[in-house]
Amino acid sequence: MERIDKLLSSTGRWSRKEVKELIRQGRVLVDGAPAARPEDKFDPGLAAVWVDGQPVDCSPFIYIMLHKPAGLLSATEDARQPTVLDLLPSELRRRGLFPVGRLDKDTTGLLLLTDDGPLAHRLLSPRKHVDKVYWARVDGILNQEDVRALAEGMVLGDGLHCLPAGLEPLGEGSECLVTLREGKYHQVKRMLAACGKPVTVLHRQRMGPLTLDEDLKPGKWRFLTPRERSELAQLGTTT
Ligand code: URA
Repeated sequence: MERIDKLLSSTGRWSRKEVKELIRQGRVLVDGAPAARPEDKFDPGLAAVWVDGQPVDCSPFIYIMLHKPAGLLSATEDARQPTVLDLLPSELRRRGLFPVGRLDKDTTGLLLLTDDGPLAHRLLSPRKHVDKVYWARVDGILNQEDVRALAEGMVLGDGLHCLPAGLEPLGEGSECLVTLREGKYHQVKRMLAACGKPVTVLHRQRMGPLTLDEDLKPGKWRFLTPRERSELAQLGTTT
């Protein structure tokens, strides 16, 4: 059981003080009845909480889908350069969110931001077999030899062993989809460079059950839908 003011402020949308005021003005409904006092307690998993006629998700963690634009670091903070966290409003930045896996500064596409550490671990662990799908443009034309090299599991110049990966050349072969189940530093770029086809553009389309929302322009974000959250919650819990 949690206090209603704590539940609502933990969504990152209101401060405790603002929640108090919302309750005083009768704008917060719990299970259909106006919340009487900030200290009243409810079960966050069961209570239906509404503010100003809109349902509010009071689950303990936050999950955000972000379309990462080029030029930002996938980090929580940096002394000199802007990070993806700078795209969020301050009340969300206070929540301790972090990006699940890193995209290079010049890579665009799907980034999940959350404060759910165990989920991040499940998404990133190679043992959980969560596919990450990248669209890439390369300098050169990809062929079946490259497809075989990635499928066999490459060993890169510095001795890095890569797990078998998927490569699907598209169109004329200078664009492709690469599917990884791990996320080593610069991995897609290094694998394709080792094939003699350096990457010129890289974009992440998918991560496990999450596909980048086509309506999200670069730099824009949204909360995951309940359906997306439940698909993530089912990930790798049995392996
Ligand atoms: N592989 C890369 O080389 N860069 C990324 O940003 C992600 C995967």
